[in-house]
Amino acid sequence: MDIEILGRALTTLPPDDDHPYRTGPWRPQHVERAAVDLEVIGEIPADLDGVYLRNTENPVHPAMEIYHPFDGDGMVHAVGFRDGKAFYRNRFIRTDGFVAEQEAGHALWAGLAEDPGRSPRQTGWGARGRMKDASSTDVVLHNGVALTSFYQCGDLYRLSPTTLETLGKATWNGKFPSDVGVSAHPKYDERTGELMFFNYSTEAPYMHYGVVDGNDNLVTYIDVPLPGPRLPHDMAFTENYAILNDLPLFWAPEALAKGKYASRFYPDIPTRLAVIPRHGTTADIKWFEADPTYVLHWTNAYEEGDEIVLEGFFQTNPVPPSGGGTLYQRMFRFLDSNQLGTHLHRWRLNLTTGLSKEERLTDVTSEFGMINQQYAGRRHRYSYAATSPAGWFLFDGLVKHDSLTGSAERYEFGEGVFGSETAMAPRIGSTAEDDGYLVTITSDMNRDLSECLIFHANDVSAGPVARIQLPERVSSGTHSTWAPGCLISGWDDPTTALGL
Ligand SMILES: [Fe+2]
Repeated sequence: MDIEILGRALTTLPPDDDHPYRTGPWRPQHVERAAVDLEVIGEIPADLDGVYLRNTENPVHPAMEIYHPFDGDGMVHAVGFRDGKAFYRNRFIRTDGFVAEQEAGHALWAGLAEDPGRSPRQTGWGARGRMKDASSTDVVLHNGVALTSFYQCGDLYRLSPTTLETLGKATWNGKFPSDVGVSAHPKYDERTGELMFFNYSTEAPYMHYGVVDGNDNLVTYIDVPLPGPRLPHDMAFTENYAILNDLPLFWAPEALAKGKYASRFYPDIPTRLAVIPRHGTTADIKWFEADPTYVLHWTNAYEEGDEIVLEGFFQTNPVPPSGGGTLYQRMFRFLDSNQLGTHLHRWRLNLTTGLSKEERLTDVTSEFGMINQQYAGRRHRYSYAATSPAGWFLFDGLVKHDSLTGSAERYEFGEGVFGSETAMAPRIGSTAEDDGYLVTITSDMNRDLSECLIFHANDVSAGPVARIQLPERVSSGTHSTWAPGCLISGWDDPTTALGL
């Protein structure tokens, strides 16, 4: 392996740190590296062409009081593939908050589990204000460039998908709604080149929806009025519609009136799903009601006759029973998909009758589902999701859900080995939905190393066809994406696929 050190972040974390989400599989990285001539067990498929991008949380300073794993600074990992070879890079996203805290040498903003009123900085980002925009939640490709985002809303940071250099913020030719920002999970439609997004805040109308075209023009931006501040996390789209949500888990209004941010689930309030023509107006929004739940992630949506079919992970217990334990155990039960009871679920929204139907698709508990992005907005059959060990926000295996038959094919990483959100990479010239590869990065606690694993998407249980060793054990994190080479700016330039 040929490794080059690209940079090092200043860190003030204690050497004897014992925080459960800053140690073990969540041990942050502070060194940035580039590597080629990677050691490979098996064979990298020659028709795998593009870059797997993964965003992770990497704290560099102790929290003011209570660290939450979503507070860490965004670091993107890239594993690129061309002609059967691979390269690797990891870089911090140079957010305004990261740069300011590197200069200050300590935390300048309160985290998710802390009172934003105690932030040393009077200004900040996010739906609740005075937070750091760590840009650490999600990463998507749009117009050939990677965009990182933050779940509490913030700027979209533009990164080269190959060098991971931060290229600034998305401004969409000066039309970016920077007062509210953009939530995590903007959605890219490969067929039209459009990016759909939403944002939310504590100010009426509480949510907006927008579309950016393939030339970076903000072509749609509308109010989505809600009854009050809400905590939407994800959206979905079909060929002609966007689907937003108003779910009955939100900041308790009486606490919010006192400046406190306490999430509560209201089991007597229905789930509400908004269907909006992709370029529609506020007056075009149609709302549907469904059983109360919280949905962190949708897998996809599509049109079928008069119906919008929506698929995602229904939470049986949006607020898991406390069960006591330490402060951290009580806090982090909300991150355990086993306690939340997340199952793949299908909603059917009838545009003619205004009625909805819903059904559970499987008894397998999973979350963080990805599909072949060529099928986004169109009828899909397969999704590739993560299973979790009890009590932890970690992924101990992957599961391929077949929404047609309800079957689930599983692969377990093994004791002490944890994967990342697994992206589906269609094979060059693919002819079927699952004709391609699954790509993930593991954190192996037994061998203190990370590998990038490649599976055949049509034979998941057979295990990886290639294991590529990375220079350092990677911290666990949240979201990832597959950036096909044909959609990356300059990928055809032989020097773009670094060192290959
Ligand atoms: Fe997410």
